[in-house]
Amino acid sequence: MGPKNAERSGGGFARAADYRQEYAKSLRDPNSYWATRANELVTWYRKWDSVLCGDFLSDSISWFSGALLNASYNCLDRHIEKGDGEKTALIWQGEDESDTKIFTYRSLHKEVCRFANLLKKRGVGQGDCVTVYLPMIPEMVISVLACARIGAVHCVVFSGFSATSLAKRIVDCNAHLLITADAAFRAGRVIPMKANADEAFDEAPSLNACIVVRRTGKEVSMKPGRDFFWHEEISADDITDYCSPAKMQADTPLYVLYTSGATGDPKGVVHRTGGYLLYAMHSCQWVFDLKKNDIFWCTADCGWITGHTYMIYGPLGLGGTVLMYEGIPLYPGPGRFWEIVEKYKVSIFYTAPAVIRALMRYGPEPISQHDISSLRLLGSVGEPINPDVWRWYHKYVGSGSLPIVDTWWQTEAGGVMIAPLPSMYLEKPGSAAQPLPGIDAAILDWHGQEAPADESGQLVIRHPWPGMLKNLFGKADSVRKEYCSRFPGVFNTGDRARRDADGDFWIVGRTDDAVNVCGNRLDTVEIESALLRHPAVLEAAVVGMPHPDKGEVVYAYVTIREGCSKSSQLLEDLRRHVRGEVGPVASPHVIQYAAALPKTRSGKIIRRILRQIASDDLGDFGDLTTLADPSVIPDLIEGKRVEVE
Ligand code: WT7
Repeated sequence: MGPKNAERSGGGFARAADYRQEYAKSLRDPNSYWATRANELVTWYRKWDSVLCGDFLSDSISWFSGALLNASYNCLDRHIEKGDGEKTALIWQGEDESDTKIFTYRSLHKEVCRFANLLKKRGVGQGDCVTVYLPMIPEMVISVLACARIGAVHCVVFSGFSATSLAKRIVDCNAHLLITADAAFRAGRVIPMKANADEAFDEAPSLNACIVVRRTGKEVSMKPGRDFFWHEEISADDITDYCSPAKMQADTPLYVLYTSGATGDPKGVVHRTGGYLLYAMHSCQWVFDLKKNDIFWCTADCGWITGHTYMIYGPLGLGGTVLMYEGIPLYPGPGRFWEIVEKYKVSIFYTAPAVIRALMRYGPEPISQHDISSLRLLGSVGEPINPDVWRWYHKYVGSGSLPIVDTWWQTEAGGVMIAPLPSMYLEKPGSAAQPLPGIDAAILDWHGQEAPADESGQLVIRHPWPGMLKNLFGKADSVRKEYCSRFPGVFNTGDRARRDADGDFWIVGRTDDAVNVCGNRLDTVEIESALLRHPAVLEAAVVGMPHPDKGEVVYAYVTIREGCSKSSQLLEDLRRHVRGEVGPVASPHVIQYAAALPKTRSGKIIRRILRQIASDDLGDFGDLTTLADPSVIPDLIEGKRVEVE
């Protein structure tokens, strides 16, 4: 079974027995395991003095200290040197069908070098932070790799963020330069970006220059001496086609990426050059089994870690071909994604459950109108995938036969940590299956003891891995303090999960998404899954609502399928269903029919808003710039408490 090794882009492990052996070896002697992988996957200017220094009790951990490398060299030059210069590295599809660009490794290398030279000309040096605030256009990939080339630290800020959120992130990491666009195309509209950048400048004294991509042609104000157009600067006579890659210490930061923390303050997750790059490639090879002829489409925005690892560093590090799409799934119609799959013969498709749920609403027709037979592997990331959604994905996108890799990881992880590997794939809808080699994942109860099979507990990682964050920006000892204090010596992921009798992992959800009814900690995800198993329910989100007697009660927002009627009979039915599936204590106190739920553009439900609505806390909804459609809020407030009890 499994394809021959020669067809793979760099090794690969076909059979379950190989996996088990490799996994056991990786835990027995992690240092020699990672040294072997580092030799196999990465090209180094100088090898390390030690693989790993420190553990989760130490104030800091270093990987491959003493080693020197360059991430952009690894993603570009070495493939050209091996004769793959004419191979396609990046296929870019704009929102408009006719707007496309194809980059070979050689042409991408040239663009990256030229832009790296421009960054230098504008005063960016090693270790300086550069904020990248761009839509999904090729300049995103070029900027990121150009920073890596000169040893600058990139900090991508999702293009949907507001001026205030952008400014906060620029100030936190003390960025010197900002790269943005005049505006972005989004579902046929023109969304200003430079205007946000201008506002951010007022609050961010560390910034001294702004490079602006002309994407839409929208009129923007340009401040002389501070703002420069990319296309003008890049064609200057003194910008040459080659920029020599900086030899970077493996343990120095490659980038900062902000993720949300429990407090609402963004946390600047710092990833290091050597360990991160290695882990991006290691995981990309294991999980997606990337081969020479694959066309890999990761639909995530580069504003999130998924885009960093599986649109840039992982696949380009392995010499693969990636597809980048500017637009959103439902514009101009629900067939857009499948049209792209057909057009470019995408073979690996990696997306989020929220995207699949959005597409499910339109049924299988938009899929059947396209030839998507080029697909060979499907992936899912971002939240637990509900079994119904899994089955739909499998049946209609995967023609009932393709493996689905449900990949569990987080921004702090650098790359996928738990996933069903395609070659040893068993159908277990909803299970993230097994940890990758090198990942010592376990489930602990509240006392720190390993939980028995089928009991949920805290998902922890017991040994450092190269892709792990170095620290939170500006806080050297933050890994120990923020992640390893609950269970000293192990890394607490903040997720709950259980392991079944086969040892397969089932992710329950974040521990901060819990409701406490009469002292019973309930996982909202479990209740949501129960609701989703009811045939009338299309989407469900569950939050806690304060209650004088019970502490909290369960408040469920439910979107029902077309054709189902919003009767009180259905509400009773849903309650009975949850009581039966989860237990009487989980029965929703309130069920509100919602036409739509508040979601980020990437499809995550923003439970914070639902929690506020449920508890009548309507004063200030905080930063709403990530919200895809703000009109859902007044609708939800309006429709609040269609109560029956
Ligand atoms: C949290 C991390 C991983 C990149 C995108 C999100 C949840 C992620 C899964 C999955 C169940 C998942 C976890 C995790 N999550 N993937 N396959 N199954 N839950 O990165 O914003 O750092 O969020 O997303 O709760 O902790 P992030």
